[in-house]
Amino acid sequence: MPKPAVRVAVSGAAGAIGYSLLFRIAAGELLGPDQPVELRLLEVDEALRKLEGTVMELQDCAFPMLAGTETGSDARRMFDGVSHALLVGAKPRGPGMERGDLIEVNGHIFGPQGEALNDAAADDVQVTVTGNPANTNCLIAMHAARDIPNERFSALTRLDQNRAVAQLAAKTGASVTDIHDVIIWGNHSATQYPDVTHATIHGRAARLEVGDDAWLNDVLIPTVAKRGAAIIDARGASSAASAASATIDHARDWALGTDRIVSMAVPSDGSYGVPEGLVSSFPVTVTERAWRIVPDLTIDEFSRARIDASVAELESERDAVRALGLI
Ligand code: NAD
Ligand code: LMR
Repeated sequence: MPKPAVRVAVSGAAGAIGYSLLFRIAAGELLGPDQPVELRLLEVDEALRKLEGTVMELQDCAFPMLAGTETGSDARRMFDGVSHALLVGAKPRGPGMERGDLIEVNGHIFGPQGEALNDAAADDVQVTVTGNPANTNCLIAMHAARDIPNERFSALTRLDQNRAVAQLAAKTGASVTDIHDVIIWGNHSATQYPDVTHATIHGRAARLEVGDDAWLNDVLIPTVAKRGAAIIDARGASSAASAASATIDHARDWALGTDRIVSMAVPSDGSYGVPEGLVSSFPVTVTERAWRIVPDLTIDEFSRARIDASVAELESERDAVRALGLI
């Protein structure tokens, strides 16, 4: 007897990230190889024709776990009964822009989508925001969805975590699977803090294994924080396949659980001095579809200053969307 299908919504489904993300969800990489999924694909009217082509390709893959696909531009209809909402649809930045420059352009998308989720989604919905500026768009959606508990909202910093792990692997020759407990704090922006003070490589402190503090502080941190801009520079378009892969990692771990520390931007409960309610990246573990901020980590002076700087930026983004009437 097959399991009942789980509804998964993806906004911006005709976009570059969508083109990578949908096929991986349909292949079972989000909810597992024996869990049927029904895709609910939200787009703006002008992109629905393009989306039709993507849906034809999804059909042509004959994925055993793809139980159905619906497309449309009405958020309430697309979000009806969804247990997972991956909010990707938003404009990407271009060369020379910071992600925060997108607040005015993209912020207005997330209030109505939060309201639509509130009205239509399944009681167990989990919302992942990838569209930039991801933390603040998540804050907007969370505020608009008055009846959905705040802890069901999160934004993506897993791409930053994956980038930091990949850089450490390249530097030390270790496998990515031997690297644990790399933490991203704060905003998915150039102020983010990729923290290796608790990280291990082959079970040994990463700092000792790397043996080069100057590289950790002056190369690793800016490389990860500015990686999105470097990719835009090189490809002429923002990261897409790696963003889709990180979105899968994030939503899969949230749905299925993980005993490893992973980074998610989640509404703060005041932990680590981050003001309550701000959507900021923390180290979390996940059991039974609930994330929990890892408590009691030692924060040294170097880390404190960087976390505070990124949190200050999140506060100013929050103030900006408040001034725009978006929250
Ligand atoms: P894209 O321009 O290729 O696709 C975006 C899609 O969203 C388009 O098809 C567009 O029609 C659609 N869209 C716009 N407004 C919409 C709305 N109101 N409802 C539904 N769909 C809507 O862009 P992309 O490369 O797929 O990137 C999407 C977003 O993800 C951007 O904001 C980008 O900056 C962000 N991003 C975030 C991360 C991260 O780590 N958080 C990583 C990469 C990209
Ligand atoms: C990324 O980190 O690659 C994305 O957020 C896209 C961007 O604008 O940097």
